[in-house]
Amino acid sequence: MNNRYETIDNTEAVISTAPVSFISYGNSFLFELQSYFDEHFTKDTHFVILDDNNTHNYCLNLLTKIIDNYCVDIITIEACENDKTIDTVISIWNKLLEYHCDRKTVMLLLGGGIVCDTGGFAASTFKRGISYISIPTTLLAQTDAAWGGKNGVNFNNIKNQIGLFNNPNLIAVNTSFLKTLPERQLKSGMAEIIKHAIIGDKSIFKYIEQTPKDDEYYKKLLIKSIAVKKSVIDVDFKENGKRKILNFGHTIGHAIEAAMLNKITHGEAIRLGMIATIKISSEYFDFDINKYSKYIKIIEDNNSPTINKDDISLIMKIMKDDKKNYNGNINFVLMKDIEDMVIDVPVSEDKIIKSLEFLTDYANK
Ligand code: GLY
Repeated sequence: MNNRYETIDNTEAVISTAPVSFISYGNSFLFELQSYFDEHFTKDTHFVILDDNNTHNYCLNLLTKIIDNYCVDIITIEACENDKTIDTVISIWNKLLEYHCDRKTVMLLLGGGIVCDTGGFAASTFKRGISYISIPTTLLAQTDAAWGGKNGVNFNNIKNQIGLFNNPNLIAVNTSFLKTLPERQLKSGMAEIIKHAIIGDKSIFKYIEQTPKDDEYYKKLLIKSIAVKKSVIDVDFKENGKRKILNFGHTIGHAIEAAMLNKITHGEAIRLGMIATIKISSEYFDFDINKYSKYIKIIEDNNSPTINKDDISLIMKIMKDDKKNYNGNINFVLMKDIEDMVIDVPVSEDKIIKSLEFLTDYANK
């Protein structure tokens, strides 16, 4: 039968344009944000700020000078990984209705990964999608979560199982917010920066060691780290191929994070995931793991939580449900060398368990 759709090209249409973005601090941040608002909004624009208990208390005041000139409502959620659920999204949708939001309402996300992920999902689905702006406040969100348009929630104890790809209109990074973070959160963000160094730019390693760690340091570090992420998402927004390299360390890391919910930060789990993945890679590509010990050392932290042998069966169970699996295999991004990643490598359960055992020995040394 003649199919009248047969000439339709199968290639994926461009579904999202890269957002406007800037990285700055202090008064320059306010100046740049105000310029963007002047260009894109009128005094009648209705904003809904989504923040969390921490950013409500420590970050919102930095925006007062700007937002006081507009019609603004505020929704505050908990910044807790087990609140990254569809129930939280429903509570946001209910508030948006209560505040009489329409399709021209703009959501402004002020927070870390949880606010960016749940808020981005709520905005992208409310009335089939309203505009949103991301103002990430943690190092992790500034370098990773706010970029690339991934948003969504955890479901059935599996990380980010429900969600979609949709970019915000603007990503505005203010390194001054980093001063509000405890050391543990800064380290958590550093794990994703190290991931970017491993997958795409080893010069970041030298930069990490520099001092003083002031606004200018973080601005330059973020520019380098985000450049790696952008070089990937600009060519593969929907993770059909190359974007998978951003999951380096995450197959194991996400399972550890889910198994140790609220006892471990995302970065701490990804750090463990990267160590185990380098171990698997060393066997797969036959290199001496000591060759990479200097990179692993940067990820090391004696105070970080670790896994025990008893945790391995739960971690394996969670890993088998991961959405990165394909054809019943647990797939990995492995490392042949720094800046040389191989995607979609099925790794046997035995090898994964061995790498987790290595991790318990390694991390407990
Ligand atoms: N954090 C992984 C990604 O954005 O693809």
